[in-house]
Amino acid sequence: MLQSDGDTIACATNKAYWDAVRALYVVTPEVVNLENGYWGVMAEPVRREFIRQINMINYENTYYARLHSGKDFESVRTKVAEAVGAAVGEIALTRGATEALQLLIDGYNKLKPDDTVLYADLDYDSMQYAMNALELRRGVEVVKFDVPEPASRQSILDAYASALEANPKTRLLLLTHVSNRTGLVMPIAEIVRMAKAKRIDTIVDAAHSWGQLDFKVGELGADFVGFNLHKWIGAPPGIGFLYIRKDRLGDIDRDMGDADFPETDIRSRVHTGTVNFATVLTVPVALALHDKIGAAAKQARLRYLRDYWVHRVRAFKNIEILTPDEAGLYGAITSFRLAGKTSKADNDAIVAELRDRHKVLTVRRAGVAKGQCIRVTPALYTREADLDPLVDALAVVTGTKVA
Ligand SMILES: Cc1ncc(COP(=O)(O)O)c(C=O)c1O
Repeated sequence: MLQSDGDTIACATNKAYWDAVRALYVVTPEVVNLENGYWGVMAEPVRREFIRQINMINYENTYYARLHSGKDFESVRTKVAEAVGAAVGEIALTRGATEALQLLIDGYNKLKPDDTVLYADLDYDSMQYAMNALELRRGVEVVKFDVPEPASRQSILDAYASALEANPKTRLLLLTHVSNRTGLVMPIAEIVRMAKAKRIDTIVDAAHSWGQLDFKVGELGADFVGFNLHKWIGAPPGIGFLYIRKDRLGDIDRDMGDADFPETDIRSRVHTGTVNFATVLTVPVALALHDKIGAAAKQARLRYLRDYWVHRVRAFKNIEILTPDEAGLYGAITSFRLAGKTSKADNDAIVAELRDRHKVLTVRRAGVAKGQCIRVTPALYTREADLDPLVDALAVVTGTKVA
């Protein structure tokens, strides 16, 4: 049923195809949910598999866990590695991108006192905090700079080039593939190349990108990457993984709580303890559905849905669209703010008005240098008609008369 026709542009607007995808999801009719950036709702086949696995693990209990879970978890790890284009020895499962990235940032052992570590305003809060913690833990200087707004591919590259130029002792750079604040897609491969030329390592936060965008890990060029499976791959909440390129394993310390695996095994870099077995065991069904819908088709559809509302509101009075239209710089997510409305209170009020008066759910985002904003994130189940209430509501809140 869900066979992509191979032409992704035609596929993005193929009503029968996306109606069939939509039919895989059961979501509340209470609100038009355009806050799908938190995590991804499970499609029905995934939800059913999750419930089946919960029932299995509760029934089989430690009889299953002691005898079979090791082999099954290895099979999950292998499937994830294949899907992201890595060797299985380069992947370790985690409870999400947060766990993955904190282990990478804290475990990175090449820093010396007086080195500099660098990140930008659009990076995720808790990764910024983890980078800040390196000041005390490793004695390094922590430098933060701002990504330009509005951004273009060239202005982003120039901003990173200037930041590296201005901080010649930089040893480690944090990068975020898709910003959770604005949805801006960073030209990661180019920035990684620029950093490598200066012998600077990069840790890439791909929490939001894989599954929203169609790529394999090798295309990023980065040696250390943290991923989620519960956002755009649609696995149950509580699962992600880290990637360490094979020849770089020694540059990330083993988890202080692990003595189970040899130093040469990436699984020694993560020691989670007892995990949600059902969540892990559901990953293959989520990956299979991702594959069936098609990574390229997903990317094209999500960009199309984003364009659908952005192109209609861009000319509205007083609206600033923070995420550029330039090809390759956006996916599903785009943020906006009303001119001059940069505070928490301003944006909370607009989010509340959209939700309570217009039944459209969005979310306020802070941390952007030029001021707070509102993030809009459609999902695969979103229809064009679901975006019309957002467009109408934005006409009202901006005081724009639509012909
Ligand atoms: C860019 C980015 N990094 C990291 C995370 C953390 O992901 P999680 O909470 O799923 O571990 C998020 C979550 O929204 C994110 O958007």
